[in-house]
Amino acid sequence: DWKMQDVLDEEIKTIQSTVGPDEHVICALSGGVDSTVAATLVHKAIGDRLHCVFVDNGLLRYKERERVMTTFESDLHLPVTCVDASEQFLSKLKGVEDPEQKRKIIGREFIAVFDEFAHKLEQKIGKRPEFLVQGTLYPDVIESCPPPGSGRTHSHTIKSHHNVGGLPKDMKLKLIEPLKLLFKDEVRKLGSILNVPDSFLKRHPFPGPGLAVRVLGDVTQGNALEVLRQVDEIFVQAIKDAGLYDKIWQAFAVFLPVQTVGVQGDQRTHSNAVVLRAITSEDGMTADWYYFDHAFLVDVVNKICNNVRGINRVCQDITSKPPATVEWE
Ligand code: XMP
Repeated sequence: DWKMQDVLDEEIKTIQSTVGPDEHVICALSGGVDSTVAATLVHKAIGDRLHCVFVDNGLLRYKERERVMTTFESDLHLPVTCVDASEQFLSKLKGVEDPEQKRKIIGREFIAVFDEFAHKLEQKIGKRPEFLVQGTLYPDVIESCPPPGSGRTHSHTIKSHHNVGGLPKDMKLKLIEPLKLLFKDEVRKLGSILNVPDSFLKRHPFPGPGLAVRVLGDVTQGNALEVLRQVDEIFVQAIKDAGLYDKIWQAFAVFLPVQTVGVQGDQRTHSNAVVLRAITSEDGMTADWYYFDHAFLVDVVNKICNNVRGINRVCQDITSKPPATVEWE
């Protein structure tokens, strides 16, 4: 794609002239497309003066940490530190049921972890990092009028969620936002020129607060997170096996803090219920629930009930947005 190749060359030049030869740059990788493409681009421009961090907050999907770290290290050769902060996050979330409170705690802990990463880096390299990379896209920056010279003529507004963003203000970092004139499909093209694996570029969006918004109520209840990971993995893998992954905007499971009666073997059980949700959408602002065929659903429900201990009931969410939101919290 010649146009995106030009965009890439331009961006690299800009970054090289912005970041001085002794200056360092930090970046938080979320495992999503945007931060990955932004970091890969900056890495191409300034090499190992880029320092990335990936935080395991204990709220990631099944094998997510291993999967993204392999992509970062083996495929993209990004300089990345993986911080396991799961205990720190989960201990702060213990007993907290209110969704907004959960989001606030996660945001705060993330900043604390990031701060510590920057501090340790400063000790290691003997100076403060000057810049921060963010994977901000055009729809995130645009309000009503496009930046002059951007060639953009109309506005897209998308509900802004606090993503990995909201970083410490007292760090006085200058921002590098190499994707800020691009739309999502353009970021994917850029990523493919940068050799970001296709499977990665086509990943479904995943919320910053992770599985915390998919375990309703206290995320530390019982083994909810572990059960949810297993159910979610079975569901998403079945979607991939059926060749449906690219037709769906997001697909995931939700853990309900509700026990219902069941019968398994010749025993009565009281176990938890889970919900499967799959939607199609253009931008996440509105969405339709996805219609699976009967055989697919039968197979998925059997796999879940036969393989995941602690679940005896599987429901499907067949509500569009509006009136429902995509996530349950
Ligand atoms: P809702 O639930 O608002 O979701 O219909 C719309 C899109 O946003 C994602 N989402 C979030 N993303 N932090 C995020 O980074 C959040 O707190 C958050 N809540 C929802 C959701 O997965 C969907 O893609």
